[in-house]
Amino acid sequence: MRILVIGSGGREHALVWKLSQSPLVSEIIVAPGNGGMELEGVRNIPVKADDIAGLSRLAREEKVDLVVPGPELPLTEGIVDAMEILGIPCFGPDRYCAQMEGSKLFAKQIMEKSGVPTAACAAYNDPDSAKAFVRAKGAPLVIKADGLAAGKGVIVAQTVEEALEAIDSIMCQKAFGDAGRQVLIEEFLVGEEVSLLALCDGKHAVPLPSAQDHKAAYDGDTGPNTGGMGAYSPAPILPDSELEAMCDRVIRPILEQLDKEGHPFTGVLYAGLMMTAKGPKVLEYNVRFGDPECQPLLARLDSDLVEIILACLKGELSGDLVRFTPKSALGIVIAAAGYPGSYGKGMPIEGLKEAEEVADVKVFHSGTRLVNGQVQANGGRVLCVTALGNGLEEARSRAYEAAARISMPDSRYRSDIGIKGIERLAGKR
Ligand code: AMP
Ligand code: GLY
Repeated sequence: MRILVIGSGGREHALVWKLSQSPLVSEIIVAPGNGGMELEGVRNIPVKADDIAGLSRLAREEKVDLVVPGPELPLTEGIVDAMEILGIPCFGPDRYCAQMEGSKLFAKQIMEKSGVPTAACAAYNDPDSAKAFVRAKGAPLVIKADGLAAGKGVIVAQTVEEALEAIDSIMCQKAFGDAGRQVLIEEFLVGEEVSLLALCDGKHAVPLPSAQDHKAAYDGDTGPNTGGMGAYSPAPILPDSELEAMCDRVIRPILEQLDKEGHPFTGVLYAGLMMTAKGPKVLEYNVRFGDPECQPLLARLDSDLVEIILACLKGELSGDLVRFTPKSALGIVIAAAGYPGSYGKGMPIEGLKEAEEVADVKVFHSGTRLVNGQVQANGGRVLCVTALGNGLEEARSRAYEAAARISMPDSRYRSDIGIKGIERLAGKR
């Protein structure tokens, strides 16, 4: 099989790495790709991840048998629908189902119809009514732009002033463009966050082991929100023994509802959960693997990802196809200093080979390029150093040992990835 992977981050590097282990695969190409994928021996082709027409042309010209989109944008822009017209299988939800991520209001409505627990919320399309609601309710509140905003459209407002400012910024100054035509104002939830991802074939869902992301830029979950500074799996707050029950609560009802609406969901459905004192509540859905959650999850996947994808596309997914090692995995994101604000590019990266000499370590590239054989930084998140271990502590110490062997000027990483899980295992949480 010839496979086209869409995207250029660490998640897509992990997808390429895992897909290329399948005996069913003859060639993988990636658009637009990065330096790490090039080192993996796949061809990078400079077509952007949201250029649906360009990707369609590429898939046809290259005669690919399967398309695997990594990020949300091609999905919300309708890559699955476009490939269907060409008769090329594409692993993901159609444009209708991708609204589960593309519109927070759509996701809320589906949650309501299917009885999935989530934060109470109100939606507004004019700033004055939104502000009146905020003044009546009082803080804390969470203000969300309805549409895609590159992970920046959610403002947790601790005061009424912050909430009003957020409404101004989203609705009046249009900080996220059209994504802010509507806002959701949500009840503020307290608890620990965890991610449940499930493979879906339209009717059936198979949960993956749990994962925990670290969204804040700095240690102790402080600083601005990022795409994710590290992740590990499993997260002790959602153990394997509870995956099926959680899937029944937050994934399968959604699949049933979307199917009822004539759009069976195929691909990865990701529930971002808040484990509150009153039980789990869904914060958001994504319609793809998370980045960086994908890296530790795929490091743990023992079975053939191509077989799993083909089963999903045929509506024949079953749990026995999806096998994971009981080992833990942990990934540390090495970022350019300044990220998620402005940051430099082109810094040379050394020590990658030495890092992978640590047992069970794989360094996925999130934002790199190859220049005359030299790996250089080319993004905010640059690498995701991922390790397996017998238990979370071993995975963690291997990943940190490997990260310490990598040198890159003007870089930084969090030093507390996985600590919450280790504390919970020790009974300290
Ligand atoms: P989202 O993109 O909806 O997952 O929101 C991004 C982040 O904002 C989440 O990972 C949470 O940390 C936080 N967040 C979102 N919604 C809420 C809420 N209702 N209560 C508390 N925190 C929230
Ligand atoms: N790491 C969070 C996400 O991929 O949305």
